[in-house]
Formats: sequence, structure tokens, C-alpha cells
Amino acid sequence: MLLSLCAFLPGASALKVTLYEESLCPSCRSYIQDVLAHLFANNMLDNVDLNIVAVGNARKDHEGNIKCQHGPKECLGNRIINCAIDLHPQMDVWFPFIFCLERHANHEPYFHRRTKICARKHGVDGQAILNCAHGPLGKELVEKAYNETAALVPAHTYVPWVVVDGLPLYAGDIYLQAIICVFIPESERPEACYKNPHPNSLASEMGRTQQSVAPLKTVAT
Ligand SMILES: *[C@@H]1O[C@H](CO)[C@@H](O)[C@H](O)[C@H]1NC(C)=O
Repeated sequence: MLLSLCAFLPGASALKVTLYEESLCPSCRSYIQDVLAHLFANNMLDNVDLNIVAVGNARKDHEGNIKCQHGPKECLGNRIINCAIDLHPQMDVWFPFIFCLERHANHEPYFHRRTKICARKHGVDGQAILNCAHGPLGKELVEKAYNETAALVPAHTYVPWVVVDGLPLYAGDIYLQAIICVFIPESERPEACYKNPHPNSLASEMGRTQQSVAPLKTVAT
């Protein structure tokens, strides 16, 4: 108990949560849309060091080029996500953008169009993100994401793959809310911590969550 309280003393490091995912994977999208968006909208990520590493199950071919599980469109989506986080490193800024980008899980995603719409809506630089995604920086960032994913111990076996302070959650990833809330001292715990985080209840709340996320934390620049 004392140890977990100490985590909140000034200078102590925040709980580190990393989502390893890929852009066109439906269950990754729903993890962002349901679990993470719910936590974000209810201030449960405020003391969390959240990161998204978007390369997922991509493999390298014989020439060392990254081949994405769902083809070149997914690679573009991954580059956009990694670029957005690199160019706007504050989670309050990049999360609403990525949430918006990944919101329309149709079979023919128009990443360029979505990037522009979501950038305008959330005050990020869409053109800079697209330039990054199509340039050497985007390539390097995905390479870095690939290296980081390949270095996971234990190795990831599927996506979404959620790691908290170095520990993979496996199927327990649906309990991320409870895991985070345990680390928040009782006196500072948001009310939402006491509500049922079961995925069924999240699914029924989804419409409401999606509507509430953008206006709650839209970034004004
Ligand atoms: C990724 O790993 C390879 C092989 O170890 C290395 O050559 C390359 O520089 C790394 N790339 C990045 C961007 O970290």
C-alpha cells in the first residue's frame, strides 16, 4: 500500500501503459474506442504514461521492408499514428486525434481525408503529420516501433497487446481500468473508477463515450 502511494509523490514515475497495435485491426480499434477512450474521457489516464506503438504483427521481407498484416493501407495508418505521437507528444493532444482517425472502421479507410478532418477538429498539424508519414521520419518511426515490438519479453502473440510497467496483460487487458484505479490514491480516485468496466457495459456506453470524448478534451491551439 505504501509503495503504491509513493508512486504519486512528486518526481516518482507514472504507471506506464503501452498499447501495441496496428491501424486496420478491428479489435485494436475497439480497444482504443471502448477501453482507452472511456478512461481518457473520465480522467483516468491523467497520471498514466500512455503510449501507442503502431506496427503490430507486421513482418520484414528479405530486403528488410516492413510488410503490414492488412497491406499498404495499414502501413500508412501506422505511419500516421506514429508520426502524430512523435510530432505532438502530449497525450492530451495525440489521443483525441488518433481516436478520431480510428473511429471509422470501414473497409476502405481514407487515411488522408481522416487525417485532415481529425487534425482540424483537434488542433494538430495534419499536413505535418502527412509529410512525416510519407517521408523518412515516418519510415524511421515505424522502424523504431518494429524494433520495440520485436524486443518485447515475453513476445507479443496477438494485437491489441497491452503492457503495464513491463507486464503483458494478456486477456486481462479489459481490466485496465481497475489496474490503473488501484494505483490512484483513494482520495484522488475519479468517480468513474467505481463503475463497472466490463466490456459489455462499455459497449452499451460506446455511443455516449464517443460523443463525449471530443468536446471534453478538444485541444485549442
Ligand atoms: C532497428 O533495429 C535494427 C537492427 O538491430 C537497427 O539496425 C536499426 O537502426 C533500428 N532502427 C531504429 C529506428 O531504431
